[in-house]
Amino acid sequence: MQRTLSIIKPDAVSRNLGGAILKMIQDSGLRIVAMKMIHLSKAQAEGFYHVHKARPFFADLTTFMSSGPVVVAILEGEDAIVKYRTLMGATNPANAEEGTIRKLYALDIEKNSVHGSDAPETAAFETAYFFSGLEIVG
Ligand code: RTP
Ligand code: MG
Repeated sequence: MQRTLSIIKPDAVSRNLGGAILKMIQDSGLRIVAMKMIHLSKAQAEGFYHVHKARPFFADLTTFMSSGPVVVAILEGEDAIVKYRTLMGATNPANAEEGTIRKLYALDIEKNSVHGSDAPETAAFETAYFFSGLEIVG
């Protein structure tokens, strides 16, 4: 069993796509073991994406991620990290496979509707960034 952090990004929450995306997640067999809706401050978005601090898109990305509410959730399942990233599809929706969340819903390479942890170490950091042990159930 493995856990990964999912974020439904502001572009998707603002288009009322939260339910549709959660349905895709649950239909894939991944289990939601923690979830909440929050509106990140710019500083909180910068802390979350600190690994991208040196990237040219860091300012735009953190402004976008703090532009409106997001739904953060911890997903659990066998190979949850890779399984969820496969369901998400490529970062740029132009390259995303048919049937993936980003192919269906992403607007562009930045407003790409969902986030998923990319490795066990980042999953551990990211789940702890949003949830205490008491908030994780199941
Ligand atoms: P994420 O971390 O959000 O799950 O996405 P990812 O692994 O597929 O992509 P990553 O390289 O980690 O980039 C993080 C997020 O930054 C935005 N981005 N913008 N303008 C650009 O060239 C660009 N590249 C990346 C996207 O929102 C991407 O998901
Ligand atoms: Mg990433």
